[in-house]
Amino acid sequence: MNHHVQSQLTHQSLVILISGRGSNMQAIHQACTRGALNASIAMVISNRPQAAGLDYAKENRIPTCVVDHHDFTDRVTFDRALADVIDSVENPLIILAGFMRRLTAEFTHRYTARMLNIHPSLLPRHPGLNTHASAIASGDRWHGCSVHYVTEELDSGPVIARAIVPLLRSDTPDALADRVISREHVIYPAIIQLCLRGLIEWQDGHILYCGKRLRNPLLF
Ligand code: GAR
Repeated sequence: MNHHVQSQLTHQSLVILISGRGSNMQAIHQACTRGALNASIAMVISNRPQAAGLDYAKENRIPTCVVDHHDFTDRVTFDRALADVIDSVENPLIILAGFMRRLTAEFTHRYTARMLNIHPSLLPRHPGLNTHASAIASGDRWHGCSVHYVTEELDSGPVIARAIVPLLRSDTPDALADRVISREHVIYPAIIQLCLRGLIEWQDGHILYCGKRLRNPLLF
């Protein structure tokens, strides 16, 4: 079987991990619904029972599961419980969409090349929290978001794509966040689709785009 076709067949199900609002999850769901993304969301998992995104998932009949980190004494046991839920879905692509927990190396290694994250900055600039305020405070001219494969170091895996947003003199963190999130909602479904079709892969430490090494992240 053609290699690309095989990738397409094995990554049709998405498992989306959220912690809050879930607007990226909604954008991905809507892309699936309108046929822009050939996938279905097999499950939405939240580490917070109150995450607003769970309501959207339930209203749209997407299976949900809460794995509350407060119920676990340490990260290793929490991550193992999370993996048990993920592994109830057959070979999914795992999508971190505002999932605000650090993950153990055991967990990230288990899903190497099968787990994506979106981060609201032009990585490697501004990993971690409060990225919009950091970009403004640093006097950056450009900000944006990045989609990357997940590795054990926070917000540090190989970057597949970035969307760039210019900073305005008048910007506040909230105004900037609004412009960035609207780009997130475009870039994330688009990159997921490329991964599902096997057009983007991560092999031997390199990102491949259409089978060739991607030297710089794709730009949106
Ligand atoms: C998004 O801006 C996402 O990039 C960010 O959390 C927000 C979640 O919004 N993720 C991170 O900061 C990961 N380090 P959403 O719940 O509305 O999708």
